[in-house]
Amino acid sequence: MKWHKKLSVGNDKLDEDHQTLFKITDRYLKESSDRDREYTTTVLAQLTYYAKRHFKREEDYMEEIGFPGLDKHRDAHDQMNAQLVKLIDRNDACEANVQADVADFLANLWIKHIRVDDKRYKDFANSHK
Ligand SMILES: [Fe+2]
Ligand SMILES: [Fe+2]
Repeated sequence: MKWHKKLSVGNDKLDEDHQTLFKITDRYLKESSDRDREYTTTVLAQLTYYAKRHFKREEDYMEEIGFPGLDKHRDAHDQMNAQLVKLIDRNDACEANVQADVADFLANLWIKHIRVDDKRYKDFANSHK
């Protein structure tokens, strides 16, 4: 699962953020045998750190370009943050199978958000140049 130019949202800083998020995600999905609780803790902490900064930057950008879907997009970010917190709690509680759910979250929600939801503000910016 690699970031590709086709996934560019037309803003260098946001693309850099996405590349970082892809790298963390890709490593976690590949190294399935290393997904113990400690590694999962590290990955979830990294995602929390980068996501917080990225979501803020992205929301500021959407506001700047006057993207009409900003509120909906912000809700999606809030939901992802809430899910991250839940996964951290479950991992801290040593719940079985949480690693598989983290992998599923990353592959199906996180990456999908970048591919589908983030593309919407790019298309909007392109059509309003
Ligand atoms: Fe994004
Ligand atoms: Fe986003």
